[in-house]
Amino acid sequence: MLQLKSMNEIAKMKEAGEILAACHQAIKKKLQPGITTADIEAFTEAFLSERGATPEQKGYQGYEYATCASVNDEICHGFPRNEPLKKGDIVTIDMVVNLNGWLADSAWSYAVGTASEQAQNLLDVSKEALYKGIEQAKVGGRIGDIGHAIQTYAEGEGYSVVRDFVGHGIGPSIHEQPQVPHFGVQGKGLRLKEGMVLTIEPMINTGGWHSKLDDNGWTARTADGSLSAQYEHTVAITKDGPMILTDQDHLE
Ligand code: MF3
Ligand code: CO
Repeated sequence: MLQLKSMNEIAKMKEAGEILAACHQAIKKKLQPGITTADIEAFTEAFLSERGATPEQKGYQGYEYATCASVNDEICHGFPRNEPLKKGDIVTIDMVVNLNGWLADSAWSYAVGTASEQAQNLLDVSKEALYKGIEQAKVGGRIGDIGHAIQTYAEGEGYSVVRDFVGHGIGPSIHEQPQVPHFGVQGKGLRLKEGMVLTIEPMINTGGWHSKLDDNGWTARTADGSLSAQYEHTVAITKDGPMILTDQDHLE
């Protein structure tokens, strides 16, 4: 079911989003070679709990962690673990914050130390692809406009867009209607309406788009071993245009 949100509800989701954005900024400061994704997991749990928020992913459909931590060729749903991150790794931290029953979802990719030129370019293009998608999240547009903008840009830069995982509506629960593919045809798909709140979360690979699932039943990685990055925001469609509920820029 597709539930449109009032401005009052969107404001509540933005409060969750502010905490999430601040958590990402704090993680960015902590990231350096030697830190583990288990450290980031523990930091995140404490950060949220100090602010009266809870990690919605923990316990979601049997997922055991507050964060997903996906390194290098891992696309999404990597488990936090005790292996130290190395200089040049890229890691995507994804989390969903619950504040008073309202959710926000945001993933961010980081370079550990300095990234190779190839990895840094992937990060730059993936982030820009997210914002190209967000620009299309406006009243009267179509779902396909979002995916089309992302796909055209990312493929034009020589990369591919993951097909097996898509963005989604979000509100009091993580996954609501509609699905938001990061590929598509302009002018096609559901019409975008005021009050929709969506995640836009393109996963971009340096190689092909195919993914394979690890034996743990969760972690997806690129089939060809190429690098993958992801930036995700929770975005409300308002009469004044897209409103990013997980924005970090104003905190910098
Ligand atoms: N945050 C994810 C998303 O962007 C959802 C993670 S599902 C979980 O859609 F089970 F891993 F928590
Ligand atoms: Co997410």
